[in-house]
Amino acid sequence: MNQLYHCYASAAFGMEGLVSKELKSLGLHDVEAGNGFVLFSASGDELFLANMEVHFSDRLYIILASGECKSFESLFQLVSSVRWSDFFSRDSFIDISCKCSRSQLMSQRDCQSITKKAIIENVKKATGQTSFPESGSALSVQVSVRNNLVRILLNTSGDALSRRGYRTWNGEAPLRETLAAALVELSGWRPGQPLYDPCCGTGTILIESALKSGRIAPGINRQFAMEKYKCFRELSFSALRASLKERETRDSISGISGSDIDPEALELAKRHIIQAGLEINAIGLHNLPLQELSLNTENGVFICNPPYGERLSDQAGCRKLYHDLFLLKKRHPSWKLCAISSDPAFERSFGKKADRKRRLYNGRLECVYYIYD
Ligand SMILES: C[S@@+](CC[C@H](N)C(=O)[O-])C[C@H]1O[C@@H](n2cnc3c(N)ncnc32)[C@H](O)[C@@H]1O
Repeated sequence: MNQLYHCYASAAFGMEGLVSKELKSLGLHDVEAGNGFVLFSASGDELFLANMEVHFSDRLYIILASGECKSFESLFQLVSSVRWSDFFSRDSFIDISCKCSRSQLMSQRDCQSITKKAIIENVKKATGQTSFPESGSALSVQVSVRNNLVRILLNTSGDALSRRGYRTWNGEAPLRETLAAALVELSGWRPGQPLYDPCCGTGTILIESALKSGRIAPGINRQFAMEKYKCFRELSFSALRASLKERETRDSISGISGSDIDPEALELAKRHIIQAGLEINAIGLHNLPLQELSLNTENGVFICNPPYGERLSDQAGCRKLYHDLFLLKKRHPSWKLCAISSDPAFERSFGKKADRKRRLYNGRLECVYYIYD
């Protein structure tokens, strides 16, 4: 049996349940949700597949060591307990990031330099290597210090998993891909059912729905940090990628469309669709104010991320738009409508209490996802 690693998936607040459900559905082991993270176990193959397949987590890490540390000496000892030569190549660039909260060790800079020193000492002892050119690919280590519990994490993803690679041009208020995927999941929409985003902007919700519909792994077109780590040299990354490609059902993508009043945003949406490797016709795009929208299909789902009106000058216009969403729903009684906003007056402006609500964060902005069945 392949070695199982203890792993850690980062999860935005409010998304832990989604992350943990998805990891379980991927067949990963010992899945346990925490506050802002989910723990699980996986072999190297499983971890690579998960990096490509997960929709809601931002990064997947291996937990190399964990323990209570209240002094730099204990941090040094904890880092030294790892067999770094298993992961480290002669020329690895040691990239350490650190997050400290509610702990005795609160200096990120000091934690970073102690960790780096301990790694170098450890590799020197194990291999006899004396010079560290750091000219190669990054060995990305994250030191997480929370309530005096330190976790030494090896970042297997590299760049955040929300960066699927298709959104290279951003509109004014883009939505993170992981959050867009969560909105689609929480809406209860199932592939094959009509889906429409009446404020589609640069198309993130539509693209995430199309990926789900075509069973396309969101990270299939990108690289991951673990591909460069020494311990995973034996993994057949190309065969694992191919195994996910084989199960794609691109021909089944249908009924997904959206509109926006801004033609420039729609141009960006078109580019993103192509960048995502989708057929341009796989998603319908229209330049239309939602006040004029009228569809002749039944039983679909509207999902949208309308403007929030954070600037006072925009507030009245946004609140009017929320009522226009109510009228849109009224014109389409068999459709469900789901909208996310940070505006506490959303329901009042819309004109009806939502059937279900879910608190989510758009970056640092606390929002509510309103679902009208
Ligand atoms: C927060 S952005 C949506 C961003 C989008 N989710 C994305 O991934 O880029 C809100 C969008 O609503 C659009 N919008 C504002 N008023 C509208 C209206 N009356 N009808 C249609 N779209 C509108 C804006 O042009 C903007 O693109």
